[in-house]
Amino acid sequence: MEAVKKQLAWYADSLEAVLASYLPQCPLPEDQVAQAMGYSLLGGGKRIRGALVLAFYHLYHEETEAALPYAGALEMIHAFSLIHDDLPCMDDDDLRRGKPSCHKAFGEAQALLAGDALLSLAFDIMTEPQHSRFFPPERVLQAVNRLGRATGLGGMIGGQAIDLAQEGKDTPAELLERMHKLKTGALLAVAAEIGCILAGADREAGQAAVEYAAHVGFAFQIMDDILDITGDTALLGKPVGSDEANGKTTYVSLYGLDAARNEVERLNAKAKKALDKLPGDTRFLKGLADLLVCRQS
Ligand code: IPE
Ligand code: IPE
Ligand code: MG
Ligand code: MG
Ligand code: MG
Repeated sequence: MEAVKKQLAWYADSLEAVLASYLPQCPLPEDQVAQAMGYSLLGGGKRIRGALVLAFYHLYHEETEAALPYAGALEMIHAFSLIHDDLPCMDDDDLRRGKPSCHKAFGEAQALLAGDALLSLAFDIMTEPQHSRFFPPERVLQAVNRLGRATGLGGMIGGQAIDLAQEGKDTPAELLERMHKLKTGALLAVAAEIGCILAGADREAGQAAVEYAAHVGFAFQIMDDILDITGDTALLGKPVGSDEANGKTTYVSLYGLDAARNEVERLNAKAKKALDKLPGDTRFLKGLADLLVCRQS
């Protein structure tokens, strides 16, 4: 487990070293939005989505530097989703990554714009010639297409729409599963897929990567829902009890803590099995799946 943590920290550090350089330099008064973008993007988070891009690319290439802008783009989309998720009109949470949520620090309007601008910046960074010149254009095009789809109504945003629509309502099991797969699984799966696309992996490997990350993503959201009940705000850096306060249907509210923990284990085993179809050294990816199911933050 120590080797996995070390490798994850290495991916996170190499991302951190470049993320600030992707942010726009703006004149006043737009500078306020740029500040809010940096506040939510830099210096925090586990960087799981960025690490997945890099780790899958790493299965095929020793050097991961060319994939960094794409890993950064995933983290931008994720930061955008968190800024909007915390807004009063959504989960109304005041704490994120151990500090005031973006709208608490900058106001709702700036936070809304910062989220929008991070979404747009992700696609800007991916297609910027300085970054895309290392790859055949069709790979970049495919990566952009997949990310657009996974972010939108057929992916993360669709999952968030189900999450909001079901507040305070009974949610059938199939709808809960679709919500989890979309709101969290979609971005994790596309992160793995983009790592494979950029690396030039074959179709079968790409599908196995998506299968792994989709299971990890589903387990990840169930763990997030467990930690919303059993976790510690100081470790999580976000409020516990938010789901209950908002009347959310979660895996735990539907099936209880024990069944939720069992499901996480079952999905974890399925995720690791999917890795058998991939070439190269998959030990980090196996370890990452294990690390995420016993996480406390
Ligand atoms: C939080 O994601 C939102 C969910 C999809 C559950 P993370 O737990 O990956 O958040 P950070 O990036 O580490 O803060
Ligand atoms: C959010 O799920 C998933 C996103 C797409 C941001 P949650 O609302 O449970 O995430 P947290 O607990 O606020 O991080
Ligand atoms: Mg939410
Ligand atoms: Mg939330
Ligand atoms: Mg949560």
